[in-house]
Amino acid sequence: MTKILVTYLSQTGNTKKIAEAIFEGLEGDKTIKPMDEVQEIENYSLIFIGFPVHSHSVPYKIESFLQKIPQGGKIALFSTHGSLPGGHLAREALEHAAVIASKAKILGTFSCRGKVTMAALEILSKSPEHKAWAEMAPSSQTHPDEGDLEDAKSFAKWVMILSSQD
Ligand SMILES: Cc1cc2nc3c(=O)[nH]c(=O)nc-3n(C[C@H](O)[C@H](O)[C@H](O)COP(=O)(O)O)c2cc1C
Repeated sequence: MTKILVTYLSQTGNTKKIAEAIFEGLEGDKTIKPMDEVQEIENYSLIFIGFPVHSHSVPYKIESFLQKIPQGGKIALFSTHGSLPGGHLAREALEHAAVIASKAKILGTFSCRGKVTMAALEILSKSPEHKAWAEMAPSSQTHPDEGDLEDAKSFAKWVMILSSQD
């Protein structure tokens, strides 16, 4: 039977909310844990891995976690970000994560917006590195919203179907 882990990194709670929705959408033998509490990954046959996009990329802790996924290990990736959905700014960190985890079998990816506090945005938007996404981020204040949580649940169910066909 598939043993599933949902793990995540979350500084301000957005990615955690998505992780919880994914967990809710799953059926069977499932565990949810913040990444810092995960010890044995070999015990799981499917791992959902979530992170906030930081500086257009993947937080360092996620990079090192992804490097530990064994050859052919089944994973699904999810992220939250301040930029508008659909564009390259929203995609590039997930694409980078997929490259780092290229040994793994990636069953799916999901991303949605996550609010950034106005105070943080005011500081970040002053730096050239953050300007592009920070300019889009004020409209992320209501995310993740109910629609995002529903989408995350559906994503979880879809990945389960793909995993069972594998
Ligand atoms: C230091 C910092 C850097 C960030 N860099 C990006 C970025 O490059 N692109 C983006 O879309 N959002 C960026 N964000 C916004 C976060 O990805 C977004 O708010 C996310 O939902 C936070 O998730 P969390 O609550 O799980 O920590 C950044 C936020 C912070 C605090």
